[in-house]
Formats: sequence, C-alpha cells, structure tokens
Amino acid sequence: MATSKSVRSPKVVNIEDLRRLARRRLPRAVFDYVDGGAEDERTLDDNVRAFRDVTFRPRNAVAIRTCDLKTRVLGQEISFPAMIAPVGYARLMHPGGEVAAARAAGEAGTGFILSTISGHKLENVKTATKGPVWYQLYLVGGREAAIAGIERAQNAGFSALVITVDTPVAGMRERDPRNGMRELVGGSVLAKLPYVPNILAHPRWLISYLLDGGSPKLENIVIPGKGPMALLDVTAALAAAAVEWNDLRWIREVWKGPIVIKGVLTGDDARRAADEGATAVVVSNHGGRQLDSVSASLRALPEVVAAVGGGIEVLMDGGVRRGSDIVKAVCLGAQAVLCGRAYAYGLGAAGEAGVARALEILKDDVARTLYLLGCPNVGALDATYLDTRLLLPAPR
Ligand code: GLV
Repeated sequence: MATSKSVRSPKVVNIEDLRRLARRRLPRAVFDYVDGGAEDERTLDDNVRAFRDVTFRPRNAVAIRTCDLKTRVLGQEISFPAMIAPVGYARLMHPGGEVAAARAAGEAGTGFILSTISGHKLENVKTATKGPVWYQLYLVGGREAAIAGIERAQNAGFSALVITVDTPVAGMRERDPRNGMRELVGGSVLAKLPYVPNILAHPRWLISYLLDGGSPKLENIVIPGKGPMALLDVTAALAAAAVEWNDLRWIREVWKGPIVIKGVLTGDDARRAADEGATAVVVSNHGGRQLDSVSASLRALPEVVAAVGGGIEVLMDGGVRRGSDIVKAVCLGAQAVLCGRAYAYGLGAAGEAGVARALEILKDDVARTLYLLGCPNVGALDATYLDTRLLLPAPR
C-alpha cells in the first residue's frame, strides 16, 4: 500500500507525530484509553524513561555494506525484531481495526497478535495478512467461550497462543472514568449525555464509526446459545479475565501449538512459565496499565533473560517508540519486541496507512541504528553495544 499523504514525511517523521494526529482524530475517551496508564502513570512513564537510561557504545570506522534486520520468533521469520502487540478495542480506533493492522504487519513482513477484545472475526484477521498471527487469550465470557475461541484460532491457522497473566482485575486507569468510558460503551442515553459534546467535536471519527455500524460486537467471544458478546468496558472485561497457572492444563488440552506467557516481570515467574511448558515469555507490565509502580519492562528484562538461560524465548513490550529502543531491547536479550501504542497511534490517526507508516518508521530506525552502531545484523547485537549503568537494578 502506498503511504497515504496524511502520514508521509514531513507531516509524520516519528511515532510522536502519529500520536498527535491520533489525538486530533479520536474522541478523548478513545485516545485516552490507548494513551493512558494506571494511577499515577509512573510505570507508563518509566517504560519510556528506561530506554533513555541506556546509551549506545558504537563501533565506529566500521563499513557495513548491508544490514540484515531479519530474525526468527518461535521459528517464524520476521523482517525486523518487532511485532504488533495485542491491543483491545482496535475497531473503535478505526473501522479497519484488527484487519487493517494485521494487513499492514504482513506487508511489513512481520507478525500480528490479535487481542481477545477485538471487533473483527479472527478468521478475517488471519486471511488479511501474509505474516504470522498469534491469538491472545483472556477468559472473558467464561471457559466455554474461551475454548470455542481457541479452537477457532487453531482452525484458522493462528500459530501461537498468548496468555496474559497480569489481569486478575483491571488496573485503575484514571482517565477512563473521567472520560465516561463505561457510560459511553454500555450506559443509557442519559448517562452518555455529558460525554457527547467531545464525541461531536471529532466528526471524522464519528462519521467513520457510524458508517461502520456503531459499537462493534466482540466477535471472538461467542457465548454459547447467545452469540458474540456485546462490547463492554475494559474494567468489566478484565474483571472476568483472570488466568491462573492451573488453567494452563485445560488450555493445553485444547491448544496444540506454542504458548506464550505475557506479563512476566520477575525471574521466578519466567521460570514458572518455562516449567509449565511455555515456549516464550513476554516481559511486560501491560504498557503501565495494570499495577502502577512495577518495574519498567526494560529494567526487568535482564533478570528474566538470566532466569530462563536461553531455555525459552524472551520477548518484551512497553515504551517502544523508536527503532533504537528495539535495538536496545535486543541487545539485552529480547528476541523481539511487541509494539502496542506505537502502532495504535498510527491506527487511530489514519487506519491501515497509519499502521504501515508506524512500522516503516520503526524498521528504518532499526536499520539506521545498526549502521551507526557498526553492527551488520540483529543476530550480532549484544550488551557490549550498550552502557547500562543507569538501567540495571542491583544484582539479586
Ligand atoms: C486491555 O487488555 C487493556 O489493557 O486495555
């Protein structure tokens, strides 16, 4: 897809530019759902700050003729070490939602992870992309609905199941109640009234939302005898989403492929995931949206990498806004990163074109960073390219 004019340089040269455009197009409730974090947003901020605390140690006067950005995750090749993270409510950001984002990921040669809280049918997401697709599982809707979702994902050709383990309840994202998220998603007309002026002030979004038929159903949570679940706000959704280690037993009876445990911040949990048969873990604090004041993902990464000792793959998410962030995470032992907000801003700004532009920016950044570091391929990245004295907590 040719990059649409609205997201080309010089209008959009970095992810922050896409954020600015998303903020303009989206109603406040939708933008803040994406942009915000829990409580004081300390972890949200520190996810970004942690990358700043790491500096590079380049090898200069090294001529790199071509740079190889490719890597493999769970045995599948991707064109650079970043994939699209699961993000709920993508169809509210843009009608193309998960289908558009998956297509853009495939065009960029990388993978897409579909959230359970999604507005497009998982089968349509799979057929939209040439890249790998993984299914992220919440138990919203109960075990029977989850089993049906897992079976559909398996039949459709999803190649990994991602189980999120940091959502026993939803974090307190203070922007959401202020913006009337619950009322807008499920309240009466009267309850919605105070929030309507802000919606009307975003006509481009409103028109596309109305043309898309209004609030999408949660097409991948099908309640037996009832059909797809109606949209519910994230607090209500996650209140019913808790997963325990014990659940892995029945999940593994249904899902035959690799399992990725997302939401690991300690060596102990990483080892537990490996013992339970996970093929990979994602070092993640849910983008600073769950428990505030937990470690930034990048700060937790070295402990997890050391704990699993190469036995399983380690991915990470949280705070990635530049390709140089991706390079830093790989230097510290991540096989690849997952990008959530970075792509969601693009989706909210301009649909598929915005996601394509986000991925193009990040990929170009990674290539440029490797050339500037004097490193010929992502497989050669390691901690010797970094100064981490400001990052690392004391060894345990
Ligand atoms: C959904 O998983 C969210 O964190 O908003």
